Amino acid sequence: MSRLVVVSNRLPLGDNPSGGLVVALQDALRQSGGLWIGFSGEHEGMTSTQLVFHEGAAFQRAAFDLSPEDYDSYYLGFSNSVLWPALHGRTDLMRIVPEYLEGYRRVNAHIADLMIPHLREDDRIWVQDYQLFPLASELRKRSVTCRIGFFLHIPFPGPAECAALPNPTELLDWVSEYDLVGFQAERDRLNFMESARQLGDIEQVEGDVIRLSGRTLQARVFPIGIDTASFMTEARNAREEDRMRSLTGAQMMIGVDRLDYSKGIPQRFRAFQLLLENNPDLLEKVAFLQIAPPTRKAVSAYRDIREETEHLAGRINGEFATVNWTPIRYIHRPIPRHELAGLYRQARIGLVTPLADGMNLVAKEYVAAQDVSDPGVLILSRFAGAAETMQEALIINPHDPWELAEAMAQAIQMSANERRRRHSALLRDVVEHDVNWWSSEYLAALG
Ligand code: ADP
Ligand code: G6P
Repeated sequence: MSRLVVVSNRLPLGDNPSGGLVVALQDALRQSGGLWIGFSGEHEGMTSTQLVFHEGAAFQRAAFDLSPEDYDSYYLGFSNSVLWPALHGRTDLMRIVPEYLEGYRRVNAHIADLMIPHLREDDRIWVQDYQLFPLASELRKRSVTCRIGFFLHIPFPGPAECAALPNPTELLDWVSEYDLVGFQAERDRLNFMESARQLGDIEQVEGDVIRLSGRTLQARVFPIGIDTASFMTEARNAREEDRMRSLTGAQMMIGVDRLDYSKGIPQRFRAFQLLLENNPDLLEKVAFLQIAPPTRKAVSAYRDIREETEHLAGRINGEFATVNWTPIRYIHRPIPRHELAGLYRQARIGLVTPLADGMNLVAKEYVAAQDVSDPGVLILSRFAGAAETMQEALIINPHDPWELAEAMAQAIQMSANERRRRHSALLRDVVEHDVNWWSSEYLAALG
C-alpha cells in the first residue's frame, strides 16, 4: 500500500484543536497512518528552509515555520482576507492587495520545495483546503507525477463570488492540476461546475470526470464526518458536567463555533432575544451557552465580529438577567473535547446557524453526544453543508430571526417521542457516514 501524505495549512502540535479540518484529519490519520505536513503556527522568525519532523504513535508530522511577512500575506492576507470571505459569500469583506496574492503563490511554491526531498514515487498526496489551492501545480512543476488529490473543506462559490476574486481563471487552473477534487456538498460541486463553465474552460467527459483547463480529473462530493464512536463514548462518560443541569435548573441551548462572521452568532443572539421578548414564561427557564474561541484575531473583520458578539451578549443580559439567572453565558476560549461532549449532552437544543459553512462538524458532534433515550433537538441552518443530509433537524434560515426564534420555541416544547424520532434518523447518518467512511471513500477514489 502506498504511503499517504496529507498537507494542510494547520498542523496540530498542541492540544485542543478547534476547527473542523484538524479534528477530522487527526481522526482519519490515526486510522491510516502516514505523514502529515503543515504550518507549525510559528511566525515570528524566518520561513523554514526544511521540514521539522515530530514522531507520533500513529503517524508522522512534519512542520514548517513562516516569517511575519509570509504569514501576513499568505495566511492573514490572501487565505483569510480574500479567499475565506469570497468563498463564504462575503465579498464585501474581501481586502484585495497585490502583495497578498504574491505571498500566497510564493508560500505554496516554497511548501512544494520543502516537500520534494521527502516524497516517494508512489506516495498518494492529499492536499487540504483553500490555503493550498496552488500546491499541486507547484508540485507538478517540480516533476511530481504521483496521484494528488484536493479536498475543499469550505463552500465553493458560484460565478458571482468567483468573479470577484482577483484571479478566477488562475484558481480554476490550480484546481485542474489535481487528479481528484472533493467537495463537502452537492451544492459546492454544482457551483464549481457553473463557475468553471462561466469563467474557465471545462467540459463534462462522463459522470464525475471532467476536462478542466486541458487536464482530465474527477470532481466528486465526499461529505465529511466525525469520529462518531469515540465521541459517543466521550459524551456518555462525561459525568462531571452532569452537574451543569442541576446548576442551571433551566433548559440549556448550546452554540459552539470559532468566533467567525460566517457562523451567524449575532443572528442567533438576536433570535434568542426575540424568544425571550415573545415568551415571558421562558424567563429563568432557558439558558444559552455560547462557546466561541478566538480565531484569526489579526484580521479586522474578526475583531469586529468579536465586538458585535460581546456587545449583544452584554445588552441582552443587561435587559433580561435576574439575580438568579444569566440568559447568555459566553466563553471565549477553547475547551477540552471531553468537556465539550458533556456539554452537548446536557443541552436540550443545539444551535448551528451559520450563514455559510462547508459542512459544520458541530452539528454532527451534537447529535452523537445525545442520550438516545432523552435526546435534544438540533436547529440547523440550511446554509450548512450538513443540511443536505441532516434533514430531520429543524432546518432554518438564519437570516430570519422570527423563524429562528419560532424554531427555538418549537424545540423547547417538542415531545420526547418526536425528539427521539428525529434524533434516531440523524444519528443513523452520523454513525454510517463517519470520518473513517469519509477518508476511505476519498482515498479509494484517489486510487
Ligand atoms: P470550522 O471548521 O469552520 O471551525 P466546524 O463546525 O466544522 O467549523 O468544526 C469546528 C470544530 O472545532 C468542531 O470539532 C468543534 O468541536 C471544535 N471547536 C469549536 N469550538 C471549540 C471550543 N471552544 N473548544 C474546543 N473545540 C472547539
Ligand atoms: C476551517 C477551515 C480550516 C481551518 C480551520 C481553523 O475549518 O476549513 O482550513 O484550519 O477553520 O482556522 P485556522 O485559520 O485557525 O486554521
